[in-house]
Amino acid sequence: MDATLEDLLGCDAIAFGSADYFSYISGALKDFFDRTYYPSQGQVTGKPYAAFATGGSGGEKALEVLDRICGSFKFKKAVEGVAVVGAPSPEVLAKCNDVGKKLANAVAK
Ligand SMILES: Cc1cc2nc3c(=O)[nH]c(=O)nc-3n(C[C@H](O)[C@H](O)[C@H](O)COP(=O)(O)O)c2cc1C
Repeated sequence: MDATLEDLLGCDAIAFGSADYFSYISGALKDFFDRTYYPSQGQVTGKPYAAFATGGSGGEKALEVLDRICGSFKFKKAVEGVAVVGAPSPEVLAKCNDVGKKLANAVAK
């Protein structure tokens, strides 16, 4: 809820994470997208993003929603997102680490 349009415009890349709530993203993140969509258009095209989600049964639905919304913003998908059931295992954490590296590399390009 604290994230602002200025945060979005000022960052080089962005990682969006959410719990799966009712096969959708959290209301707080949706609120951020709602507040920033129109005023950011034309200024965030091609900004690299990565997505991660957790859910009682996997988080894939939330991940799909994130990809769809990021497509509307015209962000550039830097790497395939991560969906996890509950707390992440060491293997999932390693995958998240890799996602972060790929997101950072997308900025350098
Ligand atoms: C209101 C609400 C709706 C939820 N809906 C879903 C859902 O549709 N699918 C799902 O996989 N998990 C659902 N969950 C589970 C959350 O995704 C899960 O609690 C969250 O990822 C955090 O994981 P944790 O409870 O293990 O900390 C829901 C949780 C809440 C509170």
